[in-house]
Amino acid sequence: MDSYVLVLAASSGKNLDLAHRFSESFTEKGMETQIVDLTTLHWPVYTSELDGDPEREPDTATLSDLILNSEALVICAPEYNGVMPPALNNTIAWLSVQSDDFRRLFNNRTVLLATHSGGGGAHCLMAMRHQFSFLGSNVIGRTMNLNKSKPFSQEKMDDLVGRVLE
Ligand SMILES: Cc1cc2nc3c(=O)[nH]c(=O)nc-3n(C[C@H](O)[C@H](O)[C@H](O)COP(=O)(O)O)c2cc1C
Repeated sequence: MDSYVLVLAASSGKNLDLAHRFSESFTEKGMETQIVDLTTLHWPVYTSELDGDPEREPDTATLSDLILNSEALVICAPEYNGVMPPALNNTIAWLSVQSDDFRRLFNNRTVLLATHSGGGGAHCLMAMRHQFSFLGSNVIGRTMNLNKSKPFSQEKMDDLVGRVLE
């Protein structure tokens, strides 16, 4: 497979729309993308009871391989109660226990953070920065935060895409 940036959407409304906008902008710059809407995975909520139960634990191999082979990750996630949504946190929890060497998924990987939230989304961006930094990712300093009164800026998107491709 050619090089690609993996764009993860943690909700299927405005944040998935934003994921598609990122995808279009990367394509214009000559970089392929893959988009995964995490809400379509339908993985159960991680608990230690499910972990190791072959009938109930999800198959994480496809997403694991997609992350492992990606050039970078773009995360589009709304703020839920001051943090990231369960769909994102749950995905990371399952990946962390299912992958043989899960640190390789995120360690030293470039991660760009974006949010379309009800408010400013600053808490969600901070929570995601904390989590991906903990996992060893190189989280890009500039982020995209949109809401209904803060419209999309193509200029900012081009700048962010350029930072990922640097
Ligand atoms: C359970 C829940 C909690 C939320 N908590 C916050 C919040 O803490 N801060 C905020 O700015 N918006 C909050 N929102 C609003 C969402 O961030 C906002 O509606 C977002 O645009 C939804 O993204 P979507 O269109 O991709 O589904 C919350 C929404 C839900 C459903």
